[in-house]
Amino acid sequence: MSESEESDNGCPVAHPSHGGDDALTYNSYLKVPELLSLQQYESDPPAHDELLFITIHQAYELWFKLILFELDSVVESMADDQIYEASRLLQRVLEIEELLVSQIHILETMTPRDFLRFRGALNPASGFQSIQFREVEFLSGVRDPSVLRHIQQGDEESRRLKRRLDEPSLRSCFYRLLIRQGFDVQIPPEDGTVSDALREKNLDALWKLYRYPEERFHLYTLAESLVKHDQNILLWRFHHVRVVERLIGTKKGTGGSSGVEYLNSTLQKRAYPLLWEVRGTLSDEEIYGERK
Ligand code: HEM
Repeated sequence: MSESEESDNGCPVAHPSHGGDDALTYNSYLKVPELLSLQQYESDPPAHDELLFITIHQAYELWFKLILFELDSVVESMADDQIYEASRLLQRVLEIEELLVSQIHILETMTPRDFLRFRGALNPASGFQSIQFREVEFLSGVRDPSVLRHIQQGDEESRRLKRRLDEPSLRSCFYRLLIRQGFDVQIPPEDGTVSDALREKNLDALWKLYRYPEERFHLYTLAESLVKHDQNILLWRFHHVRVVERLIGTKKGTGGSSGVEYLNSTLQKRAYPLLWEVRGTLSDEEIYGERK
């Protein structure tokens, strides 16, 4: 095999398309020098573990960017009744989220004492201010406008986050899709409130989907992927708060919250409560008995 055939492996950065000084390279395509210049310490003298702390947060933000990009496409696919495509893209998000859940534990290689070498220098910056994390919440359907008080207002990022509150969430898009697919549901309000009447009506309709998954398999898979997305975020919250507990115990957060106590309270958040609840409405008599 010739050298050119060997390098023709589909990798866009493996073989510059033309020679010369301006030929595309791995570094110029991926902006590696720029990327590697973005890890700047606040501690002085530099604390050894601050590089880990910065890197892991930056890696999260990059993945959040991709998650938001894909979730926006999931919304569009749902709006176009492209159920398979919505599900396919959501699978990618789920894979990334699983990585994000396990990745948080790298921080446990830092001792509580080593964290103290630079923690003071980070005040009052906090994960509270991660705009993209809030965007993921808002887009998914967890909408607590009070979180906005932690975000500095006036810049493009904060305006983008506020715009998310005016856009339909994955939850309402899913219920709209259900209506177009012939299910008798009511679209839940974006603030997450669920009246008794809405709950009853929607559980009845979702029961049909969960009772006969084989009949509407793509739709069922999409519903379960939404539940898994909710679960992954919950798992992330759980693993994050355990790591926080190991590192700072009962200390307050740099963002001013009570720390672990506050983070534990967020473990109740659900974007798709009725999709969780519906499985509790199934009974074995219905499964093995006469079909209604
Ligand atoms: C040493 C590691 C970490 C510690 C000690 C820590 C601590 C905390 C604390 C105490 C809070 C509550 C808000 C406050 O008062 O500041 C918080 C919130 C948060 N942190 Fe972390 N964190 C760590 C790592 C991370 C990482 C790697 C991420 C990745 C993005 C992250 C993202 C967040 C987010 C998004 C929130 C807001 C959660 C919510 O309000 O539901 N944190 N963190």
